[in-house]
Amino acid sequence: MNVYIETYGCQMNFADSDVIGAILGKEGYSIVNDIATADYVMINTCAIRDNAEQRIRHRVHDLKALQRKKPSLRIGVLGCMAERLKTQLLAEEDNISFVAGPDSYRSLPQILRKVGQGGKAAETELSTTETYDDIQPVRLNGNGVSAYISIMRGCQNFCAYCVVPYTRGRERSRNPETVMAEARSLYDEGYKEVVLLGQNVNSYRYEGAEAMSFPRLLESVAAIAPDLRVRYATSHPKDLSDDLLRVMADHDNICKSIHLPVQSGSDRMLKLMNRHYDRAWYLDRIDAIRRYMPDCSITTDIIAGFCTETEEDHQATLDLFRRVRYDYAFMFKFSMRPDTYAAKHLSDDVPDEVKTRRLEEIIALQGQIALENNQKEIGRTYEVLVEGVSHRSDSQLFGRNSQNKVLVFDRHEAKPGQYVRVKVTGCTAATLKGEIETS
Ligand code: SAH
Ligand code: SF4
Ligand code: F3S
Repeated sequence: MNVYIETYGCQMNFADSDVIGAILGKEGYSIVNDIATADYVMINTCAIRDNAEQRIRHRVHDLKALQRKKPSLRIGVLGCMAERLKTQLLAEEDNISFVAGPDSYRSLPQILRKVGQGGKAAETELSTTETYDDIQPVRLNGNGVSAYISIMRGCQNFCAYCVVPYTRGRERSRNPETVMAEARSLYDEGYKEVVLLGQNVNSYRYEGAEAMSFPRLLESVAAIAPDLRVRYATSHPKDLSDDLLRVMADHDNICKSIHLPVQSGSDRMLKLMNRHYDRAWYLDRIDAIRRYMPDCSITTDIIAGFCTETEEDHQATLDLFRRVRYDYAFMFKFSMRPDTYAAKHLSDDVPDEVKTRRLEEIIALQGQIALENNQKEIGRTYEVLVEGVSHRSDSQLFGRNSQNKVLVFDRHEAKPGQYVRVKVTGCTAATLKGEIETS
């Protein structure tokens, strides 16, 4: 039987799809790349904003055409939207046969047997312990160079706007020995970069014979090999420690880039969002990053138009962007999510056109800053890990420097998985152009 898996949402969802691929592969299912050959289609979904869910609803409707051609085709919805809506999804979308939440993937073989016989199934129990520790993920969308390793699951920070604690459950950390084993085996297979994933990696903690914190785990992974790069995401500003910054600074192969979502530049908003830090704390953490690692890139997430946001709050965000000068930002319009603190206690009172205008102002400012930051890179030389052939031209390759910036350059003899030295010769706001240094 053939299974086609389609993934939406964050990196953690992509890592989960690789776990699903491993679970099903072990049971004799084939994971296929061509949806036309599938007996089962699984959509691994995201619920973070309403537009993410709408996009998935459209996709589910579109699949009806395929089902008409192949009536035996069974469709399932997995991931965060499945967890949020549970059996309601089965009731609302009549072409879906099963839903499975993020902690139910071990049940997928049983679920498929049941729906294969014409039944429907819903498994959405969240767990306090499941980490899929023992499962060696199959790299479904892998490039053979860089791979994700999920080191923890869930989140219990309960930011007022966020659905993740409800869709992913309690925070739990994975056994460090299995993380190390996975990283070592990736390196042995030729991978040159691992990205350690969690909603808030700073609170990684494994209580074994000896407790393991995130900085210690990071150090251990970095010790596997000097030519294995290590990245991680995401850090919560409230507990970004000097200990972690020191570990990063001390290891050449721990990449010098930090994703530090700020969400708002206004203290009043940060409090209402339940972020547990204020602007002064955040700026202090930015200073600390620059003290330990002057060459570290910093990126962020921002929400425009959260409940009660005023023009003054918005100006505070723009001001923070001017101060920090991020290299990149993921920028969103606030979307009210059911069940969250905001949905229960606050009102979505910023008109949509105001949210849009504020978001556009942030995007315009950030675009300008990113371009100026990149212009300063011209003339510098970086060690770049080649990831693949450029989308624009077969004669060019692309890769990233330690700062996670994408560089595009002429191929010469280089191949994906190799390190090359590239001198930056030009840029846009999004990419650096360069030349391989041959001597
Ligand atoms: N765990 C990470 C973020 C996970 S979600 C962290 O805490 O930083 C990714 C981003 O989506 C968030 O950082 C936030 O900027 C955005 N986001 C989350 N909920 C949202 C909502 N209801 N509306 C708009 N953006 C949202
Ligand atoms: Fe959501 Fe906040 Fe948890 Fe991030 S830390 S996943 S924004 S609740
Ligand atoms: Fe989306 Fe779930 Fe990730 S809501 S952002 S897929 S944790």
